[in-house]
Amino acid sequence: MKTQHQIFFKNAQWMKEISSGSVNLVVTSPPYPMIEMWDEMFSIMNPAIKDALKDRDGMEAYLLMNQQLDKVWEEVDRTVASGGIVAINIGDATRKVGGRFQLYSNHSHITRVFEDLEYQVLPLIIWKKESNKPTKFMGSGMIPPNAYVTLEHEYILLFRKEGPRKFLKEEMPKRRESSYFWEERNYWFSDIWHDLKGTSQLINNHKLRSRTAAYPLELAYRLINMYSVQEDLILDPFLGTGTTTLAAVSSARNSAGYELEPNFSRVIEEKLKEASTISQIMARNRLDNHADFIQKREKKGKTVKYHSLNYKMGVITRAETYIHLPVVKDLQKIRNNHFEASYHEK
Ligand SMILES: C[S@@+](CC[C@H](N)C(=O)[O-])C[C@H]1O[C@@H](n2cnc3c(N)ncnc32)[C@H](O)[C@@H]1O
Repeated sequence: MKTQHQIFFKNAQWMKEISSGSVNLVVTSPPYPMIEMWDEMFSIMNPAIKDALKDRDGMEAYLLMNQQLDKVWEEVDRTVASGGIVAINIGDATRKVGGRFQLYSNHSHITRVFEDLEYQVLPLIIWKKESNKPTKFMGSGMIPPNAYVTLEHEYILLFRKEGPRKFLKEEMPKRRESSYFWEERNYWFSDIWHDLKGTSQLINNHKLRSRTAAYPLELAYRLINMYSVQEDLILDPFLGTGTTTLAAVSSARNSAGYELEPNFSRVIEEKLKEASTISQIMARNRLDNHADFIQKREKKGKTVKYHSLNYKMGVITRAETYIHLPVVKDLQKIRNNHFEASYHEK
């Protein structure tokens, strides 16, 4: 098995390299409107945003920033196949503009956009970041009623195009191999995730580092394993440091990513050099966790009915017997920003 991974340093408002209806899953995180680190980028896209902030019109700036993202969502819609899923990691923003404190609800705006595009809105996931900042509480100390709740979570919005995906009979073996374990299903498909750790940002260049907001590899890896099958095409229109590409390589999916900042090219390439090690670690951890889970059950006297066809371990359901976790054998650079991964045989 081989997979292809392409990166385009272009504006995702027009993704002409991607054919219509070819993408099975979008996993992405845009710049968050009204989070200050993105003001400059949005203002370059539309100078009226800078004017709105100067005029202390927070609501106008928020709408104009989201308008820039809306153009990408429309283009995403063109590329997504019937039954395809769009998973968007987004945070709301709190900010004082012109002396007025306000929550800017980015997740509501994006949900409305996909409702208008007639997607099926699926139950969303909230993931809670680790935060121990002592100064996190804002407002008026201990005296009611003017303090504000601190935002410590982000959303993973989930939308599906045109109802559940259909598979041909000959596609079923790949689909079965892509199954997840029973206990993974129980946690992954719960609506609050507590276990995601922040990402280590191994970027030396200070200016570049200030422009990254990488999400944890586990977030992209998990979504890819929940919502696509091996050899599918995964798209990230806001690729940043290439976390989605690394997760796609490690999960034996094809991928395409768009990113405005060409200086991320080196960072992405460095990250992809780890693909073989990362895919081994991901597979090993999942298998070890599963073995622990089965052992604990057996200690309680609960026996398993099925056995994995590819690993020496029991499983709970028949579907899990087919699971095969891919491990990258080699990653070749075919040409600039185009990589090909090959995998170990079963
Ligand atoms: C929140 S970051 C993504 C971080 C990424 N998930 C990671 O793990 O590194 C958003 C990225 O989108 C890029 N971006 C913003 N607007 C874009 C556009 N219209 N087309 C392509 N990239 C864009 C920014 O340069 C930034 O790197």
